[in-house]
Amino acid sequence: MRTVEWRDGKVVMIDQTRLPNELAYVEYGDYRQVADAIRNLVVRGAPAIGVSGAFGLALAALRSRASTREGLLSDLREARRTLYETRPTAVNLVWGLDRIIGVADGCGGGADEIRRSVVEEARRMADADVEINRALGRNGAGLFGDNDTVMTHCNAGALATVAYGTALGVIRAVRDAGKGVRVIATETRPVQQGSRLTAFELKHDGFDVNLIPDTAVGYSMANGLVDRVVVGADRVLRTGHVFNKIGTYQVATMARQHGVPFYVAAPLSTFDMDSAPGDVTIEMRSGAEVTGTGDRRTAPDGIGVINPAFDMTPPELISGIITEGGVATPPLEDGIKKLIEANGGAG
Ligand code: MRU
Repeated sequence: MRTVEWRDGKVVMIDQTRLPNELAYVEYGDYRQVADAIRNLVVRGAPAIGVSGAFGLALAALRSRASTREGLLSDLREARRTLYETRPTAVNLVWGLDRIIGVADGCGGGADEIRRSVVEEARRMADADVEINRALGRNGAGLFGDNDTVMTHCNAGALATVAYGTALGVIRAVRDAGKGVRVIATETRPVQQGSRLTAFELKHDGFDVNLIPDTAVGYSMANGLVDRVVVGADRVLRTGHVFNKIGTYQVATMARQHGVPFYVAAPLSTFDMDSAPGDVTIEMRSGAEVTGTGDRRTAPDGIGVINPAFDMTPPELISGIITEGGVATPPLEDGIKKLIEANGGAG
């Protein structure tokens, strides 16, 4: 089963808010439900929300009552706005939405032909995501030794993509290449994608995985427990600045302090060649994610909270960026330029 897929004119996805206690699926027939699912983290992870956005537009096309080309394109633009507003940091969402809008605009036929091509394109994007992750994994596997212990942060696994994963795809590819690999997963407060999702999917697939509190990253590295780090990304800039789950910057800084190579794994659709570091919106989430655990309050009433969902890791802390088109190496601005040229562009 894929994390998100198209089935009989509906979008089916794993409800990640219920993991690890329950593996449940939800089915949506309306793009507004998909928008809510992205906003509420039913589906999350940059590539998964890119494909979910595309499927959302496919639903909008199918359910639109428009009978003319102009009417349908206008309904699609309205749906794009709603889906776009759900989460601001991962560039894959914009990439997925704009790819579908481009296909709709470029389709010469009438409303029904646009509907068909939009659904086909969204399904193609989902299939391509799996192949891209496998290629990315193969490109990264050679950077890892036999029996390495690899630290990862948040969830950049099968659950953050359609299947296989980016950072966890590399770890899967290391094992597929016949090497031993152990994993240390940070719990990734406040929403705990590391303990709820990464530990769940690695244990499910028979990996040796240990969970640590986020506060034990320094301890683990100082005590020689970590050989390499690999994380995913929500947005990679031309300059090599990487936006990823909050705490990534701390992990990268600790890795540098202890001489541990720090890799980022991301598809080319995560590259944003236009923005500067200051242009990127960091999503700020509800204080309630920090002041309590489940229904139990763990902070006093009335306390102020700062709850950013992402941070930025500067290029000088990154040993390489692994993509399906090759690995960008430092100095990253040059490495990324060469990589993007060799692949005929980002995305
Ligand atoms: O808030 P989330 O769970 O959507 O954040 C996800 C991450 O930060 C992942 O590390 C990133 O999207 C890479 S996923 C392949």
